Amino acid sequence: MTNSMNPFHYGSPVEGDQFVGREREINALVSRMRNHVSVVLLSPRRYGKTSVLLRAESILVKKRPALVHVNVLRCKDRAALAGALAGGAFRIPGARWHRARQAVPEFLARIRVKPTVAFTDDGRPVFEYGPRLAPPDADKITADIYALLSSEAAHRPAVLVLDEFQAITDYGEHLPRLLKSLADEHPSVSLVLAGSKRHLMERLVAAESSPLYGMTQKIALGPIPNDEMVGFLRERIATGRKRVTELVAELIVRVAGPVPNDIQRLAYESFEIAGREVTADVVAAGMDQAVAHEAPTYSEELQRRAPGQRRVLIQLAKSGGSSSPMSAAFATAVGLASAASVRKALHTLDADEAVIGRDGAWVVADPFFGAWLRGTEG
Ligand SMILES: Nc1ncnc2c1ncn2[C@@H]1O[C@H](COP(=O)(O)OP(=O)(O)OP(=O)(O)O)[C@@H](O)[C@H]1O
Ligand SMILES: [Mg+2]
Repeated sequence: MTNSMNPFHYGSPVEGDQFVGREREINALVSRMRNHVSVVLLSPRRYGKTSVLLRAESILVKKRPALVHVNVLRCKDRAALAGALAGGAFRIPGARWHRARQAVPEFLARIRVKPTVAFTDDGRPVFEYGPRLAPPDADKITADIYALLSSEAAHRPAVLVLDEFQAITDYGEHLPRLLKSLADEHPSVSLVLAGSKRHLMERLVAAESSPLYGMTQKIALGPIPNDEMVGFLRERIATGRKRVTELVAELIVRVAGPVPNDIQRLAYESFEIAGREVTADVVAAGMDQAVAHEAPTYSEELQRRAPGQRRVLIQLAKSGGSSSPMSAAFATAVGLASAASVRKALHTLDADEAVIGRDGAWVVADPFFGAWLRGTEG
């Protein structure tokens, strides 16, 4: 082992040298943010939605946008979501309220439901609403922030980004409908919704019966093309002063792909273990190490599953996936009574993104979990 800085990163958004490709998607996103078009950015977990959003936002900065970015899942309740929206709006650079001598009171005059204001050590205001914030008041805050953005839109892009949008109904089933009516009322604001969990996102945005249907332009993030990922791995490993052949870089992509997070993860572990060169043996050891780190989590994940789901997971992992899980043979192999029981188990696993349909077959979504499952008894 050597002490070079590991050039890979996984588990949270990436930027700069740790980010590769996605030009087409980023251009599409930036252009829509600039042109008042609403967008939904869709992909399974860990494909790079937040990284793409942040990259697009950093390009848009040149246009001095009025942009509020909130991660819906990070807000613990409705009040926290309202506080995050208000805080985001206050921080819009060069906004009208900043031009007033007393920015905070000027800003507060524009929101009907007043938060309490605390100041951080460096003098930044933090807006807080009590945990008992009533739904109609939360709606008023959302509407007022939308109106604020709209009032900035005459001279610059105005954008409301809601990341992890699949969690929005945790704060109220009606929120997608509220957003739809606000978007209709303020067409100059580009509403950007990003989320995973296909079933939830479809119900909210993509299905014809969904409240936001037809209002947003859809951008789907697929895998990053293999050749781009291979080039990226080789360049990063060289930056870390180690060697790798094209074949071994391809091996990393094949074993861990197609999810960019998983590829970076295996590359990280492999780089960590390697001496001067990342070889095929090193990659195998890297895989073992990644699996070993997560073993306790995987064990819990398996235990919390119903027995039928457990067996479906193990069978899919051990067989390398199945193109016909609804067959009688598959049901027999997993000890379930019928294809209907298999369908039910698969549906739950799919909704949780534990399994995924890829190239016509159902597979375990996480390659490290898959490898761990292959090592289980039975
Ligand atoms: N364009 C990219 N280039 C290189 N690696 C990437 C890229 N996009 C994503 N990744 C990898 O995926 C990881 C997760 O990225 P990010 O958090 O942006 O994904 P996400 O889709 O927002 O995930 P989540 O579903 O958990 O919100 C990063 O840490 C990185 O390892
Ligand atoms: Mg994300």
